[in-house]
Amino acid sequence: MKKMNVMIGTLLTICIVAMAFKTANQPAWVVPEKYVSMANPVKADAKSISAGKALYEVNCEACHGKKGLGNGTKAADLKTVPGNFTKETFQAQTDGAIFYKLTEGRNEMPKAKKDLPGDNDRWNLVNFLRTFAPKK
Ligand code: HEC
Repeated sequence: MKKMNVMIGTLLTICIVAMAFKTANQPAWVVPEKYVSMANPVKADAKSISAGKALYEVNCEACHGKKGLGNGTKAADLKTVPGNFTKETFQAQTDGAIFYKLTEGRNEMPKAKKDLPGDNDRWNLVNFLRTFAPKK
């Protein structure tokens, strides 16, 4: 009986820790200075934006949503929030910072460099993410 109680206690502790982990705030995502100041080598013209859009629809939309609000069909299953690309705070980041985050990923955000090893593909994505900026 004592053994049973210890087991139940252990299981409860594991559940509580798991729940705390799930609801924990996402810590700030620190971008190395080298990337913050990195210039975007790809001009944000119609060709780049439409290439970025096509990649987004296949690789990103399931989590980030069609309008970049972070409400894709897979979002509810995630433990972390994908962020909102239409927010001023998101758009205030440099192209290099956004490039770094999508390239390297973190936790549930996959490393885009794995499926999209070409730098230009990922810069096209940065250029497309800019189209979610709130209209002034
Ligand atoms: C499996 C779901 C998933 C997919 C697929 C995904 N993301 Fe994410 N993304 C996330 C999550 C979750 C975060 C938040 C990560 C964190 O803060 O730890 C995130 C964060 C980001 C951020 C940083 C947001 C911010 O507020 O600064 C960018 C940029 C981004 N994703 C771009 C992309 C792009 C581009 C693709 C496609 C190549 C993509 N993501 C695919 C889940 C996903």
